[in-house]
Amino acid sequence: MNLREKCKIIEFKDLGDERGKLVVIEGGQSIPFDIARVFYIYDSDSTIIRGQHANRKTDFVLINVAGKSKVRITNGREEFIVELNKPMMGVYIPKMIWKDMYDFSKDSVLLVLANTHYDGKEYIRSYEEYLKEVNVD
Ligand code: TYD
Repeated sequence: MNLREKCKIIEFKDLGDERGKLVVIEGGQSIPFDIARVFYIYDSDSTIIRGQHANRKTDFVLINVAGKSKVRITNGREEFIVELNKPMMGVYIPKMIWKDMYDFSKDSVLLVLANTHYDGKEYIRSYEEYLKEVNVD
């Protein structure tokens, strides 16, 4: 499976009607894991780069519920960029994949769902260390 196949784009169902839009996210259904943690990132801008890490244990889904941002996703060999620009789409980033989030619009609210509780020790924050762990010379 290549990186794009692994890091799937998820299109959520639009349950909107004339009263407005509604998107439902259910762990184990549209999200391929049980959700243990939710956090959101806002008030970043186009000069900021966030993420810059891989996680040994955590799978994530990222959704821009407002505004837009980009995510650069790499496994050290392959790389691709996803623009998150609608509340009905997300990207699944499983454990041991490196990610950078950047190019935030001023109104960006980036919602992140995770399958673990926070543990700073499971983060790999050095790209060199990451390449070693995934056996890329
Ligand atoms: P950080 O991992 O640097 O954010 P990002 O991946 O968006 O660049 O996290 C910023 C701070 O917040 C850092 O001190 C750790 C803390 N934090 C938690 O306490 N719990 C969490 O679930 C997350 C994601 C971060």
